[in-house]
Amino acid sequence: MNTASAVPSDQAGPATVRIVLVGCGAIGWEVASRVYAQPTGGRYRLVAAVDPHADRAGAVGDLLGVPAFASLAEVLAAGVAFDAVDQRLPHHLHADAAVEVLAAGRHVLVEKPLATSAADAVRMVAASQDSGAVAAVAENYPHLSAVRAARHAIAAGRAGTVRALRTTRAYTLGGAWLRDGWRTGAGPSSGIMLDQGTHHTSLLRRLGGRISAVAAQHSTAPEDAGDGAVETVLLTVRFASGLVGHCVYSWGAAALADEAEATVFGSKARIDVRVSYEADLGHARLFDPGTPQGTAISAPENYYDSHRLMVDDWVAAITERRRPLVTFADAAADLAVVLAAAASLRHGGGFVDVAEIVGG
Ligand SMILES: NC(=O)c1ccc[n+]([C@@H]2O[C@H](COP(=O)([O-])OP(=O)(O)OC[C@H]3O[C@@H](n4cnc5c(N)ncnc54)[C@H](O)[C@@H]3O)[C@@H](O)[C@H]2O)c1
Repeated sequence: MNTASAVPSDQAGPATVRIVLVGCGAIGWEVASRVYAQPTGGRYRLVAAVDPHADRAGAVGDLLGVPAFASLAEVLAAGVAFDAVDQRLPHHLHADAAVEVLAAGRHVLVEKPLATSAADAVRMVAASQDSGAVAAVAENYPHLSAVRAARHAIAAGRAGTVRALRTTRAYTLGGAWLRDGWRTGAGPSSGIMLDQGTHHTSLLRRLGGRISAVAAQHSTAPEDAGDGAVETVLLTVRFASGLVGHCVYSWGAAALADEAEATVFGSKARIDVRVSYEADLGHARLFDPGTPQGTAISAPENYYDSHRLMVDDWVAAITERRRPLVTFADAAADLAVVLAAAASLRHGGGFVDVAEIVGG
């Protein structure tokens, strides 16, 4: 792929942002059908679909009436005009692909995790700062209404003094998520911590602030040491504030219709952040002695609603010339916690300080 000669078509910020979707696999298809099929307010449109699997690029192309290509180089060679690239690629490809797009002055939206190593994250953050383009990360949790409501409730003192936080991400992988095989196993770009760990680190950081240290244990039960699609990890986190938290991650557990993915244990109240993938049951719920059954403090939502919010925010950042909600530096802070957890797992499970990948 050679995008070095490419320049954005409109330095002032285009009225309609023309987007190339790179990666038409499981999430690429979801975003194409849920978001790009009905762009919000006509503020953006997909102009090409890219995937080396011709059937996947072709399916998105057919759905949206845009040309399909095997690479971004082919898009450039064909003379397709575009302003921005939405990358939905396997983890090990994020860094090189994003840096190349930014070096060419195009806006980029990168999937989580930002990268698979601190070195890659550092060069991605540098590329985002050197470029005049908008670099955003498709990290869902800061966009969820339930997370925003819980954060506001904590800030408003509705939970009282926060004593502890807990998160749970337990479900069973299947279908398209396992299709290409890169997600599971013991490789440096795979496993539940890289795939799900940055999500819940983002969630925890929204609720509890900076995480300063983490200790990690993993299940060694025979049924958890299977084919790599089954993996269970437990984290204990220390926040810079002194607060503590627990996180359970498991692939191979039964998923519920709506799960309390985060719980805030406060002196006055408990807040559950419920996330729903199959229905519109997600919301934040506050429980206190006066309302033991709990009160919803955010509107019902589906997790996948956040994919539209992420694209909308990225596009608004491009047209309004502002920062996106989740920058590369923010996502690098999530990755730093996951990398520290991996170091803890390698070294017997003790606490490992979270080394900031980039300052601030
Ligand atoms: N935010 C979320 O809710 C969410 C959900 C699922 C996946 N993801 C993330 O999305 C990313 C992709 O995951 P997935 O499950 O869709 O994976 P996938 O394997 O289903 O899809 C990736 C696609 O990228 C294509 N590809 C590989 N190299 C390419 C290249 N050079 N140019 C263009 N396309 C190329 C592959 O052929 C494949 O179709 C990962 O980072 C994952 O963590 C995020």
